[in-house]
Amino acid sequence: MAESFENRRTFCIISHPDAGKTTLTEKLLLFGGAIQIAGTVKARKAARYATSDWMEIEKERGISVTSSVLQFDYANCRLNLLDTPGHKDFSEDTYRVITAVDSALMVIDGAKGIEDRTKKLMEICSQRKLPVVTFINKLDRECKNPIDLLDEIESVLKIKTVPITWPLRSGKAFRGVYHLYKEAFARFEIGVERPEEIPIQGGAKDPRWKEWLEPDHLEEFTEQLELVQGAYEAFDRQKFLNGEITPVFFGSAINNFGVQMLLEKFCSDAPAPLAREALERLVRPEEKEFSGFVFKIQANLDARHRDRIAFLRICSGSFEKGMEAYHVRQQKKLRMGSTFQFMASQRTQVDRALAGDIIGLYDTGEFKIGDTLTTKEELHFLGIPNFAPELFRKVILTSPLKSKQLRRGLQQLCEEGASQVFFPQNSNDIVVGVVGNLQFDVIQFRLENEYGAGAKFETCAYKIARWVLPKAEHRVKFQGVLDQLAKSYDTLLSKDAEERWAILCSSDYALNKAIERYPEVEFVKTSEAVSRG
Ligand code: G4P
Repeated sequence: MAESFENRRTFCIISHPDAGKTTLTEKLLLFGGAIQIAGTVKARKAARYATSDWMEIEKERGISVTSSVLQFDYANCRLNLLDTPGHKDFSEDTYRVITAVDSALMVIDGAKGIEDRTKKLMEICSQRKLPVVTFINKLDRECKNPIDLLDEIESVLKIKTVPITWPLRSGKAFRGVYHLYKEAFARFEIGVERPEEIPIQGGAKDPRWKEWLEPDHLEEFTEQLELVQGAYEAFDRQKFLNGEITPVFFGSAINNFGVQMLLEKFCSDAPAPLAREALERLVRPEEKEFSGFVFKIQANLDARHRDRIAFLRICSGSFEKGMEAYHVRQQKKLRMGSTFQFMASQRTQVDRALAGDIIGLYDTGEFKIGDTLTTKEELHFLGIPNFAPELFRKVILTSPLKSKQLRRGLQQLCEEGASQVFFPQNSNDIVVGVVGNLQFDVIQFRLENEYGAGAKFETCAYKIARWVLPKAEHRVKFQGVLDQLAKSYDTLLSKDAEERWAILCSSDYALNKAIERYPEVEFVKTSEAVSRG
């Protein structure tokens, strides 16, 4: 099991809050034998609140703002499930998780259909052409008509659907699902852990349907089956791998129902680790030399240690405990001694891990999101963006003697990807930019509790940040443009935490004016592009 990367399935679950992601995660772990009793994942949520005090914010607001990695085995596969935070304010973090997976599982509440956040997350998956498997949940409740649900997925999410199972009504009338490919019926009964799959002969013509369904329901099922078999194309794995179609399953996570069929298909058809694009070349998982990138940094997993963990996705080769790795940005070697893997509720030391696996590196401040580790080669993995923030506030220090702590705190929070900080050139102000409002609260809390720097936020007029890059053919004119930008009233020339040039603008109008006025430079939206430039 541990020896081949080909049995790895590294994925995340995308959904709108309350669709059932936590419940489904728990059932997947249960089938994978990683936990023995249901309730462990929820209990883990609660235990985390207890051991990590900055998560008071989570507790108060009843939301989850952090994400973690869970590893479990099923059907000869090792599954790495990257959990994504549920709140919309932390979508930036979720986007980065999507850059580290090879496929995704989309959970939809059958009563509600496609909701906002699912739509947004699917846009990112589509851009990355990520294969997505769909699970329509809560069939034990009154749901929308399955054909309407599939139509909605196709029209709203712009992806073709291929039903693999078909539900036999919903709510109180829910009888189970029919597996269209295995030609088997799984009967829904509350309290049954692993429902039996009964082989069916002749589709709707099997005489046993009469025992299981009311006459009018059988008639409806017969019609639906004909329609489904005629109207939807057959499952084609290559199209799924290209992100052109999504196989669809129906079930009820809370009742364990439909989960096993989903998991089986996922293991057999979801992709093994894919090749990754680096600035220099394509890196393939089967290569011998180790490489990987940091896609997430999480502080305070354990408040007693005040530690930070950098999560690294292995892209090629294998990791061995204690091995030396080359930190490309810092151009230095480091020994990877304290590394973790995450099994359900605990973290354990990892001895060996392969492409597709995620390892947690104990971080004392040497890692940033997007950092690449290799055995020796200079590689820079692409596609791990730092998003342009959309909300800005001025930081006001409440204890003036703590400005050093404030700067250090902001610097580190930037490295974790929680925020971006800008230092305007014409003043001593510090401007913090984030993607979601809640992040301001988290930053304020952490600055005070971890860095001893009490701070407040004040509103400011800025709405847009862009990094300023010279165009290759105009490099010599760059300083001149910066000088002019520094004098401009409607764009505020600043440096970010890494001393890169950026402007803050109060409107699209101001930005467009700058774009027109300074054709010698580019105003770019993500700082990944800046690093490349
Ligand atoms: P999330 O992580 O996507 O936010 O959703 P979560 O699993 O926490 O589920 C949200 C709510 O939906 C929970 O109810 C959960 O029990 C319920 N749920 C999940 N799957 C199903 C299902 O198949 N059928 C039905 N009927 N309900 C389901 P809650 O009342 O908010 O929480 P709890 O008190 O049950 O923990």
